[in-house]
Amino acid sequence: MGLAFAHALPEDDFDMDKFVIRGGNPLLGTIRVSGAKNAALPAMAAALLTDEPVILENIPQVRDIETTRKLLAAMGAEVELGYGRAQHRTTLCCRNLASPEASYELVKTMRASTLVLGPLVARCGRARVSLPGGCAIGARPIDLHIKGLESLGATIVQDHGYVEASAKRLKGAEIVFDKITVTGTEDLLMAAALAEGETVMQNCAREPEVADLADLLNKMGARIEGAGTSTIRIKGVEKLHGAKHRIIPDRIEAATFILAGALTGGDINVAGCDPHHLDALLQKLKEVGVKTTHTKESIRVMGDNPLKASDVVTEEYPGFPTDVQAQYMALATQADGTSIITENIFENRFMHAQELVRMGANIKIEGRRAIVRGKAPLSGAAVLASDLRASASLVLAALVADGETIIDRVYHIDRGYENIEEKLRGVGAQIRRLGEILPKKAAGA
Ligand code: UD1
Repeated sequence: MGLAFAHALPEDDFDMDKFVIRGGNPLLGTIRVSGAKNAALPAMAAALLTDEPVILENIPQVRDIETTRKLLAAMGAEVELGYGRAQHRTTLCCRNLASPEASYELVKTMRASTLVLGPLVARCGRARVSLPGGCAIGARPIDLHIKGLESLGATIVQDHGYVEASAKRLKGAEIVFDKITVTGTEDLLMAAALAEGETVMQNCAREPEVADLADLLNKMGARIEGAGTSTIRIKGVEKLHGAKHRIIPDRIEAATFILAGALTGGDINVAGCDPHHLDALLQKLKEVGVKTTHTKESIRVMGDNPLKASDVVTEEYPGFPTDVQAQYMALATQADGTSIITENIFENRFMHAQELVRMGANIKIEGRRAIVRGKAPLSGAAVLASDLRASASLVLAALVADGETIIDRVYHIDRGYENIEEKLRGVGAQIRRLGEILPKKAAGA
């Protein structure tokens, strides 16, 4: 298998890093959801657990995925990308893992790189992974990954900004997470799959992405039960084999489009999603006065009613996702009344608020609470994207703002949204990337 990095996203082009959006168009038509970035990342890390090829379908073409391909390739993995109709397929083969290391250069751009820690120590008996350090939305430590691996018998040394883990063979254990962690659950799930004996993990994250990872691991020969609930039982096996797996749809991308439809007073069909994964949002939208209907794999949003304010508290799944908090805030600016948005998962995840205020929103931050008073007319402005979901929130706000908004640093959005500008244009939004060459009719903005 050859090594290739196709579908390169623009990296250094200054202009390409800005969106120009003209607000006012209701979104109409069908918009399709890509595969879940947060399910694809652990699935790619899972390929480290076997020397046979793992074929992953429905991999989104976003920058975090490219970073993971680079990370795995640097360790010796063979990475093959599909082309044409198979462009969302990635095949990974970790026959020879020459260097079970994740360098600071890659880890610093994507915290989820720590997902390789568990699989590497389980498969190679050692791992050296850079500590991720802080990030824009909070401290985000990995102490629970480390504590869990120690329970499985790994020896951990932290030195020069790296975590070094070693173990002859991991041993099954009882693990109770002090706090619910998504990638922590996934990291230990992968490690325990190859451990000797049984592992029981409690207080696990119940996110659909955890269940999707367990599905893949079971296809690879693992014996995991209970993923998607708070208790997961893993009977360790000696070896895992190759498998083929289709990644679940991205519920956060779907939520972003649903909110865009509601906010613009549009009528859109969000296709290729799993409505069951979006229960908390759909229930909230009912309170807000947005009508939705759904089939097994699509959601129609009819956003022509006035929006009513409604409070939101972010929680672990199945609660309201922290990854949709910023986008919901954009909607709340256009609802009649006061919405209190409480962020329970991360301590510093309101950076979009000050940019929304620059566009005319009335938002006050008090610790973990944002008090949003609506309905405030928004007007286009030059704004700065500070992180992935904050960028999405600014895009949504710009879609209803008067005039033109220029969003800078949209490299953040490229980390997790596949071709968002093209998808939104497909339902009538006037959005373009500066420097992008468009056919005259589509250019809009
Ligand atoms: C994952 C998601 C991210 C989402 C987040 C919460 C991926 C790749 N990313 O991130 O999009 O916003 O879940 O739904 O799936 N914590 C500790 N110690 C640890 C680990 C976590 O204290 O060892 C804390 C974190 O600081 C945070 C909370 O636990 O306050 C939840 O974090 P966690 O679920 O681990 O988030 P991620 O898995 O990094």
